[in-house]
Amino acid sequence: MSKLSYHYPLIIRIWHILNALCILLLIATGISMYYADPGRPLIEFSWAVKLHNFTGIVLSFSYLIFFFANLFTENGCYYRTKWKGIINRLIKQGMYYMFGMFKGEKKPFPITEKRKFNPLQHISYIMIMYLAVPFVIISGLGLMFPESVLKAPFGVGGILITDILHVATGFFLSLFLIIHIYVSTIGASKSANFKSIVNGYALVEEDEEEED
Ligand code: HEM
Repeated sequence: MSKLSYHYPLIIRIWHILNALCILLLIATGISMYYADPGRPLIEFSWAVKLHNFTGIVLSFSYLIFFFANLFTENGCYYRTKWKGIINRLIKQGMYYMFGMFKGEKKPFPITEKRKFNPLQHISYIMIMYLAVPFVIISGLGLMFPESVLKAPFGVGGILITDILHVATGFFLSLFLIIHIYVSTIGASKSANFKSIVNGYALVEEDEEEED
């Protein structure tokens, strides 16, 4: 039996909107700087730099909201993993995304009050929010304050290494965003998950005995 449940706390929804806007702006200004063509820039170069730096600072503060909200509210429990059986659960969810859902099979890990994310969402959100986003922020701060970066850690310029890692993580985050938005359309209806992350309410199934 499905029921409507208050699923996304206000602080997480505020963080999410701020975070999504920042990442979209960072991607647009980042791409504009990376493929800068002085004749036909997507965004005029000096403006792209200013906007990118400013948005990077806002993203850092928005990350602190996420980090402390997860530390001090119950939302944090959805980011703790039961490692036992994780591979099987990931394979099961992957098979559902690749084949099962096209054959109309039942979701292997429906969303319940206790299980906010399916195993693939769970692991990918942990990797994105506790590895990729902090990494892009720290490397970005390194580029903003180059004097803080090691000069030549492996005989190669420290700034160059930081820059390559920052850009690579930025591309990885862009890829995540495309997949994230696609997967978000797989809900009760195509727009259901988008409405949920805005108003906080989601249609959930009854909790089962065993939780992931
Ligand atoms: C236009 C951009 C975005 C849209 C439309 C979007 C959409 C959504 C939707 C519909 C949900 C709820 C469904 C779910 O839990 O999967 C969600 C949750 C989430 N999104 Fe996004 N998202 C966007 C950008 C991002 C970005 C850039 C990140 C991270 C870098 C991100 C990370 C997350 C996380 C961690 C959650 C779970 C929040 C929680 O309840 O703890 N999203 N997003």
